[in-house]
Amino acid sequence: MRLSRYFLPVQKEVPSEAQIVSHRLMLRAGMIRQEAAGIYAWLPLGFAVLEKIKQIVREEMNRAGAIEMLMPTLQPSELWKETGRYEAYGPEMLRIQDRHERELLYGPTNEDMITEIFRAYVKSYKALPLNLYHTQWKFRDETRPRFGVMRGREFLMKDAYSFDLDAAGARKSYNRMYVAYLRAFSRMGLKTIPMRAETGPIGGDLSHEFIVLAETGESGVFCHQDLLDMPIPGEDTDFDGDLEPIVQQRTALYAATEDVHDQARFEKEVPPEKRLSARGIEVGQVFYFGTKYSVPMKAVVTGPDGKDVPIEGGSYGIGVSRLVGAIIEASHDDKGVIWPDAVAPFNVAVVNLRSDDAAVSSACETAYDQLQKAGLDVLYDDTADRPGAKLSTLELIGIPTLLVIGPKGLKAGVVEVKDRRTGVTEEMPLEAAIARCARKGS
Ligand SMILES: Nc1ncnc2c1ncn2[C@@H]1O[C@H](COP(=O)(O)OP(=O)(O)OP(=O)(O)O)[C@@H](O)[C@H]1O
Ligand SMILES: [Mg+2]
Repeated sequence: MRLSRYFLPVQKEVPSEAQIVSHRLMLRAGMIRQEAAGIYAWLPLGFAVLEKIKQIVREEMNRAGAIEMLMPTLQPSELWKETGRYEAYGPEMLRIQDRHERELLYGPTNEDMITEIFRAYVKSYKALPLNLYHTQWKFRDETRPRFGVMRGREFLMKDAYSFDLDAAGARKSYNRMYVAYLRAFSRMGLKTIPMRAETGPIGGDLSHEFIVLAETGESGVFCHQDLLDMPIPGEDTDFDGDLEPIVQQRTALYAATEDVHDQARFEKEVPPEKRLSARGIEVGQVFYFGTKYSVPMKAVVTGPDGKDVPIEGGSYGIGVSRLVGAIIEASHDDKGVIWPDAVAPFNVAVVNLRSDDAAVSSACETAYDQLQKAGLDVLYDDTADRPGAKLSTLELIGIPTLLVIGPKGLKAGVVEVKDRRTGVTEEMPLEAAIARCARKGS
């Protein structure tokens, strides 16, 4: 992408209601625009990050055996009446009437709809286990939308739903999602800790929230320090195998959100120097809820003995749009965002320090072309702005690697490769710089 043709409305000033750093930086970097309270337009730079996160989540869900589909944002009220959630959800649910006075709602979650789909088609235990997921916009009419995309009213969620014949099978499905979540968040450069959590309106009796520690987080959390340094299950993890040891290695150590926290147990189980009490951002949650939806909605399958049994279910959410803010909270400095490579909107920016110099422009074009051919997302700053202004914009928007080409260096046969995170700049010949950037970004 040539910056001269891109749409990157960076801002100097941001509204004073932007209280936390990720919200301020997303506005300054021209990533989002608020259209109504808690409702945002995703501008090109923000959208690019959102898509990268969505793709990582998709890859890890697929690896764990979940199957992607897409359900609508609007749902008929009848489904929610069957489960009793139409009344129970209260004012957080956005209720809509169509021209025929039919009651619709903008889905805050999809347990009811997926259960309806499941029961329409699946009749035998032989089709189990089954896990279906989608990534779709949700609406929750939060009392206080705030912190930008962290607590929006309209937000993008990946939600998966598992169906099993019995509780033991459901536990395996739960473990698969638990491990997939560890992998997905880690690929985005985030350290997350699964913590025992309240189940809220989704229901059920087993649940973990995946928490990113951050001072600006909305949840109070308590855990064993060692949970911060646990190994992440590798790409070769066998999702059909026994994942219980991986899950138990973590659940053996105390970790709870404030809603379920037990101070006496915390003090008994965790030595004083290992006690961590902090604030955190919930980026995902997994629930096992058994037959909470299958019983009222009669989602039954015929078991091996020929008898009908209601399926055992779980649901698994990831806040895809919230993650954009959470990653910034975890990775920024006073100059701006520092994207981890895997979610960066562009892997590399080629910076032309003298766009009116033919030799410089030609070297930039070569770099731009070759890096794109190497499969990277490249931003080429071909504008006529001052070098200082260019660099500060590219630092603000957090591009991990800058390839800076100017007339002086070029005469001496070198260009600069600058790392956003470390600030370290290295000089080398153009070909070496291209090879270096290609390696880093891939
Ligand atoms: N208002 C929101 N804005 C952005 N993301 C959200 C919002 N509400 C929930 N999410 C994200 O969707 C994921 C799954 O939804 P879930 O039903 O668990 O949310 P929740 O527990 O009600 O969230 P919270 O406690 O933050 O209100 C959450 O882990 C979170 O990352
Ligand atoms: Mg939750």
